[in-house]
Amino acid sequence: MTRTDIIPRLVTLISSSKVILNELGNITVIEDEIILGLSPRRLYFINNVPKGTIRGHHAHKELHQLLVCINGSITIDVDDGINMKSVTLDSNKKALYIGPNIWHTMKWNDDLAYLVVLASEVYDEKDYIRNYEDFLNGKKNEDDSF
Ligand code: TYD
Repeated sequence: MTRTDIIPRLVTLISSSKVILNELGNITVIEDEIILGLSPRRLYFINNVPKGTIRGHHAHKELHQLLVCINGSITIDVDDGINMKSVTLDSNKKALYIGPNIWHTMKWNDDLAYLVVLASEVYDEKDYIRNYEDFLNGKKNEDDSF
């Protein structure tokens, strides 16, 4: 297991080195304290998305999420209000952790790309920040901004 901080504390790429291969097929395991700390209360999938579609365009106030692309390729752009980074998830060995207050978009590079998301809370529209100006204004008021 390797971890790369894309934006320290807030966005981390986790790469699994544990793949069990045999004549019956493959098992890929992503296990890490960052995932155990997530205590997921929701699991959701996004698929059947036409190539080139960009989803997301929001941040969450409290939600922690872990994204895994289990088929095809999806490019995730993350933005903490100062730093913008781009990560392509193109292997089921990679998982991207996104913490609260990160503006993110997800671009489908393949029609057959399939995204699996573990989320720390059940769905709550009130947790979304869907306006980029509101996101930036919220960042200005954060005490522990970086
Ligand atoms: P949204 O999170 O905005 O999708 P994306 O960021 O991938 O474009 O969700 C799209 C719609 O689906 C929105 O109306 C809310 C609804 N939804 C739920 O009802 N429950 C869920 O768990 C999720 C993720 C979305």
